Amino acid sequence: MSKWKIDTLSRPGTAAQEGEDPSQVYQRLISNDRVAAPSHIATSLPADNGTDGPPKARYIDPTFHRIEMERLWPRVWQFACREEEIPEVGDLVVYDIGDISHIVVRTAPDEIRAYRNACLHRGTRLCQEDTSLQQLRCPFHGFTWSLEGELTEVPCRWDFPQIDRADMRLPQARVECWGGFVFINMDGNAPPLNEYLGVLDSNLPGENFANKYIAHYIRKVLPANWKACIEAFLEAYHSVETHSWSMGFTNDANAQYDVFPDTPHVSRFMHAFGVQSPHLDRELSEQEVLEELFSIFWSGEPAPTLPPGEKARGFAADLVRQQRSEAMGRDYSQVSDAEALDSIEYSIFPNMVLFHGLAVPVVYRFRPNGNDPDSCIFDLFMLLEYPEGSPRPDPAEVFEMGDMTYRELTEKLGFDAFFGITYDQDTGNLGLQQQGMKSLESDTLIFARYQECRLRHFHEMITRYVAMAPE
Ligand code: FES
Ligand SMILES: [Fe+2]
Repeated sequence: MSKWKIDTLSRPGTAAQEGEDPSQVYQRLISNDRVAAPSHIATSLPADNGTDGPPKARYIDPTFHRIEMERLWPRVWQFACREEEIPEVGDLVVYDIGDISHIVVRTAPDEIRAYRNACLHRGTRLCQEDTSLQQLRCPFHGFTWSLEGELTEVPCRWDFPQIDRADMRLPQARVECWGGFVFINMDGNAPPLNEYLGVLDSNLPGENFANKYIAHYIRKVLPANWKACIEAFLEAYHSVETHSWSMGFTNDANAQYDVFPDTPHVSRFMHAFGVQSPHLDRELSEQEVLEELFSIFWSGEPAPTLPPGEKARGFAADLVRQQRSEAMGRDYSQVSDAEALDSIEYSIFPNMVLFHGLAVPVVYRFRPNGNDPDSCIFDLFMLLEYPEGSPRPDPAEVFEMGDMTYRELTEKLGFDAFFGITYDQDTGNLGLQQQGMKSLESDTLIFARYQECRLRHFHEMITRYVAMAPE
């Protein structure tokens, strides 16, 4: 529902026109900002990757899921947990992808390992849940491993003449950390994590995340393939139809999309807030844009009257900088308008999404739900700073939403209403898409040339991995 009249063609002069480079529109907009954006934001990259769309079988065919499990997931860096979830030696998280499970455990104050979660005797899962242990003991017959992965106990040892303790170490995946995130990779030949992340750390330094804590950790099973689910968050093209209520304060159709030529595992979009959509059929006053922003970001508060000549975007950016500085006892006065307000989103292939900036402190992870190609585990982390000088708060434990809507969650947690409305709108499409793809007559989907170029790039990466021989 929208109180605005929407024109899906965009008013002339307000959006990229045919033949124009659409990435320049966001750049033009931020060039007028009060606190200028840093160089990595004040730049655009060529994102011309054609017009192809992916085969729909990639989303619905169990065979394609099996191929991904054999060829893709064993080779990519995956965000398994946050370091603060396992602060003490022996703390562990069970991380599952499809049928494959790892125990991600702190084995020393500065060491984290990831062991395959399977007993070497007859295969029983060693750990069923996140916990803290000083040894890993199989619940079936009691084979036991130390935190270092050495076999330490075999009941009736005399009956196993064929096993050599040296050969019975628990198999490990590689573990590397960035920004407080613990990543694992099962492939000994994969590039190191810093090479895989490439340009990301210079654009979005890991320290931005290392000093935060998990304020909320929310899990919901979504009724669509994991790729359809992440793709719904890689473009702002859906905003005009799905989030029409946001058209008064977001510049949806002028979002910038970047694919990094030297960092194929990372892409991003930058979507301006504090500016109206080009889809509205008339130009709003700056006061109206501010009122729209206040109705969402400062819900319930009446918007102040803008001084003459003042723009909604600059005013709102100042307010965000000031309020966050006061709340956190830190100085955010030099954070650019773009970083204060905009939705600047990076993705790390294959399944992680991170936001840059003050307004949207969330991280997403999308995983197949076991071996079901029709559903996905969606983990939403809200990572927050804490006041300078205060101890780091304990991280939130995972909250399983079950059938609860995001709107109901919003009420339970006391978040602003727009949080629940937005995620219900985003996730509400997914089951329809998954069902619809099965009756779609065509074998392929269609992607927009520019606004869905990140999705096309994502599929180029999928193609690259599934073309490899099975592990
Ligand atoms: S299956 Fe683990 S000890 Fe037997
Ligand atoms: Fe959305």
